[in-house]
Amino acid sequence: MEAHGKPPRASRVSVSQLMLPEHANAWGKVHGGLIMKLVDECGGIAAMRHAQRPCVTVAIDSMTFQSAVEVGQVLCCDALITYVGRTAIEITVEVHAEDPIAGCVTHTNTAQVVYVAIDDAGRPTRVPDLLLETDEDRARWETGKQRQEARVAARKQAKRAGR
Ligand SMILES: CC(C)(COP(=O)(O)OP(=O)(O)OC[C@H]1O[C@@H](n2cnc3c(N)ncnc32)[C@H](O)[C@@H]1OP(=O)(O)O)[C@@H](O)C(=O)NCCC(=O)NCCS
Repeated sequence: MEAHGKPPRASRVSVSQLMLPEHANAWGKVHGGLIMKLVDECGGIAAMRHAQRPCVTVAIDSMTFQSAVEVGQVLCCDALITYVGRTAIEITVEVHAEDPIAGCVTHTNTAQVVYVAIDDAGRPTRVPDLLLETDEDRARWETGKQRQEARVAARKQAKRAGR
C-alpha cells in the first residue's frame, strides 16, 4: 500500500462501556484484565484506522491502576496515536471511570501500546506517516519516539541475552 500522511486526530478513538456485575472480580471491583482488554481493543481500532491494515499488538508498557473501577461506573478509553515508525504504531490510551449519576470522572490509568501493521502474509508492512499538526502532536511524538527507541534497545538486549 502506498504510504501517505494522516494526523493523529483522524484515527482518534473513544470507547465507553457500562461496568456490570459480570465485569467484577471476586471482591466486586472491575477486573483489571477486562480493562487491559478494552485498552488493547480501543488502541487496536486507532491503529487500524491509521494503517488501514490489520494490526497486531507487539508491546504493552507497564500498566498501573491508580484507582479501582466500580460496577455501575462507565469505563471510558480514549486512544490517540503518539508515534509511528516504518511499520509500528504507538498509541496512548487514557482510561477514565465515570460515575454517570454523580457526574464525576476519575483517571484510572494511562497505557502505551505498540501495534504492527501486517500484510496479507502476516509480515510487517509500512504505515502512513503521522502528520504533526499541533505543538501537542509534536511533543507527544518526541516522547513516543524516545519510548520506542528504549523498547527497540531492550528488545535487542533481550535477543543478545537469548531471551
Ligand atoms: C508483530 C510481528 C509481526 C513483528 O514481526 P518481527 O519479525 O518482529 O518484525 P520486525 O523486527 O520487522 O519489527 C516490526 C516493527 O515492530 C517493532 N517491534 C518489534 N518488537 C517490538 C517490541 N517488543 N516493542 C516495540 N516495537 C517492537 C519494530 O521496531 C518494527 O518497527 P518499525 O518497522 O516501525 O521500525 C511479530 O512479532 C508477531 O507476529 N508477533 C505476535 C503478535 C501477536 O500475536 N499479538 C497478539 C495478538 S494481536
